Amino acid sequence: MARVLLLIPSRTYRTHDFMAAASRLGVEVVVGSEHRPALAGLMDDRSLRLDFLNVEVSTRRIIDFAQTHPLAAVVAVDDAGTLLAATAAQALGLPHNPVGAVEAALDKARMRERFAAAGLPTPRFITANIDEDPHAVARRVRYPCVVKPLDLSGSQGVVKVDHAGAFPAVFARVAAIVADCRHNGARPSVLVEDFIPGEEVAVEALLRGGVLEVLAIFDKPDPLNGPFFEETIYVTPSRLGSEQQAAIHETTARAAGALGLRDGPIHAELRLNDVGIWMLEVAARSIGGLCSRTLRFGSGISLEELIIRHAASLPMPAHDRERGAAGVMMLPIHERGRLRAVEGQAAAKLVPGIDGLVITIPPGEPLVPLPEGDRYLGFMFARAGSPAAVETALRLAHAELRVVTDG
Ligand SMILES: Nc1ncnc2c1ncn2[C@@H]1O[C@H](COP(=O)(O)OP(=O)(O)O)[C@@H](O)[C@H]1O
Ligand SMILES: [Mg+2]
Repeated sequence: MARVLLLIPSRTYRTHDFMAAASRLGVEVVVGSEHRPALAGLMDDRSLRLDFLNVEVSTRRIIDFAQTHPLAAVVAVDDAGTLLAATAAQALGLPHNPVGAVEAALDKARMRERFAAAGLPTPRFITANIDEDPHAVARRVRYPCVVKPLDLSGSQGVVKVDHAGAFPAVFARVAAIVADCRHNGARPSVLVEDFIPGEEVAVEALLRGGVLEVLAIFDKPDPLNGPFFEETIYVTPSRLGSEQQAAIHETTARAAGALGLRDGPIHAELRLNDVGIWMLEVAARSIGGLCSRTLRFGSGISLEELIIRHAASLPMPAHDRERGAAGVMMLPIHERGRLRAVEGQAAAKLVPGIDGLVITIPPGEPLVPLPEGDRYLGFMFARAGSPAAVETALRLAHAELRVVTDG
């Protein structure tokens, strides 16, 4: 039986779907995680305590472990483990992304530099330390612009600014978010770049030996024009024409190549307008949250199964995406408060086409909207005959939900 090390950060939505995939594949899972208490009950040769940030020490631990427990793959389920996965896989001689490529994908400024050097359309950008004088930074950029952290995700801390007068307050707000996310007191930089208008798509793909296989292109039918960029609906297949989809494929492949990524999942975001196809970002991981549940391939294979099969060099069965349309709505948080209940779930689930609703924030927990927030309220899924029907189902079902808070 193949043995796979899954790197599971303490905060991730992805644990269940990767564990379920491993169990369907019959591979033995070793859980690499930062905290042992969460794993109480697991046998010792099924868990490894690893500090994902201390890549050197953790790689040594993995190598030692692999001496007695040979590993067929090291898979990071989320961003936090991708660097350690690449480093450990390299040391073990397993197929992996080059370490430098993963580093570039984890840093939005380095990513921008690589894209620009490769001649990819990418927003003009600067970096500014959060301790710089915001008024001085305001004079170095053009408007509208987007201020964003270098290494967060889920649109946390991403804010559009329309004119110089509004810049200092936004800069201070993003600086506070970024500083808050560091527990070591570091004062990092942020990225400030041109706002690119246009439609946005997300691409889910698998790199196999440097060749990019697009698994799905998602349309994002809700316009994302700021000031905050709350993602809501993703629908696949894309309603864009086949030429545009081919161009999206090509641009994503070039972007992955510009970073030097070669093996494993990628999640990319692009914007389309009259000028062309703009690369917003490429992450060296699969889609976040529970969104992968929209995807089914071949005879019902999950995205996580494909990722584990590829990483462990297991046979790859046919895996075209299923024929119908599918989508997810990341349920947004609009107001601060303590969650009491989400009412109307039964009615939402009865809307034709809805095939799943998961509220991921437990009652009693605080709700924090973007740009400070780092969680969604939950995820709602739909399947139907067409992308338009999926979108309608998600909107109708969302209208049934009422978020009740303690204020
Ligand atoms: N330069 C930009 N122009 C237009 N929209 C942007 C730009 N940068 C970010 N956005 C919007 O903000 C969202 C989140 O930004 P992104 O860079 O993808 O960071 P994250 O890692 O948080 O997803 C994007 O999906 C997009 O809608
Ligand atoms: Mg993004």
